[in-house]
Amino acid sequence: MEDKKEKQIHPFIDKRVEDYCGKHHSNRNEILQELDRQTHLKFVKPHMVSSAWQGEFLMLICKILKPKHILEIGTFSGYATTCFALATDDNCKIDTVEALKEYEPFLIKNFTDNGVIDKIQMHFGQGLEVIQGFEDNTYDLIFLDAEKIHYPDYYPTLVKKLTKGGLLIADNILWYGKVVLDSVNDKDTLAIRKFNDLITHDERMESLIIPIRDGLIVGRRK
Ligand SMILES: C[S@@+](CC[C@H](N)C(=O)[O-])C[C@H]1O[C@@H](n2cnc3c(N)ncnc32)[C@H](O)[C@@H]1O
Repeated sequence: MEDKKEKQIHPFIDKRVEDYCGKHHSNRNEILQELDRQTHLKFVKPHMVSSAWQGEFLMLICKILKPKHILEIGTFSGYATTCFALATDDNCKIDTVEALKEYEPFLIKNFTDNGVIDKIQMHFGQGLEVIQGFEDNTYDLIFLDAEKIHYPDYYPTLVKKLTKGGLLIADNILWYGKVVLDSVNDKDTLAIRKFNDLITHDERMESLIIPIRDGLIVGRRK
């Protein structure tokens, strides 16, 4: 029987379609299933995890793009980080930035247990400040998944850090449908609209929105 309390993620996509898509991907990886379970057991806002459907997309992108250097902003429980690590070659390095240092013990344990710790460099602090300290680092894949209000502020730095042909993927860019509601003008919604417009109208980029879960925008540096 359908759980009436279970909310649909996106208000404009029929829950039956969402459920169908959620069941039709091949992500049966036991490491990721267990990490998703642990996230729901141990984190206060487990809905923030990328989960299987989006994780499968991120892994597919890695297998096609074969990035050597990945940057993630917003590590949380390390689900997407682990997807990147599992779907890339041994010589791929991943920088992941998280504001909350208290996640570190959970992340170290899981990255170690899952055999991916050697590929991952964790950084703790405010994303914008941390990445500005990276100076000359460039990335073939950047996943922006932290505080929405600063998405437009991240944009110029992230584009500069993208290699030619590299991808910038940002999460939650439909913001539960609020981006299309004229009556909604809170700071997060305004910031996400601005970010989507920046990437869409940037001559250096080619981009599109994919309405997986709360929406991903995928931009490629020409
Ligand atoms: C949606 S979660 C990330 C989910 C994760 N990327 C995944 O795919 O499962 C957002 C994370 O961004 C972190 N965050 C919020 N503000 C931040 C900031 N200014 N700098 C770095 N991380 C931040 C939050 O603590 C949270 O862990």
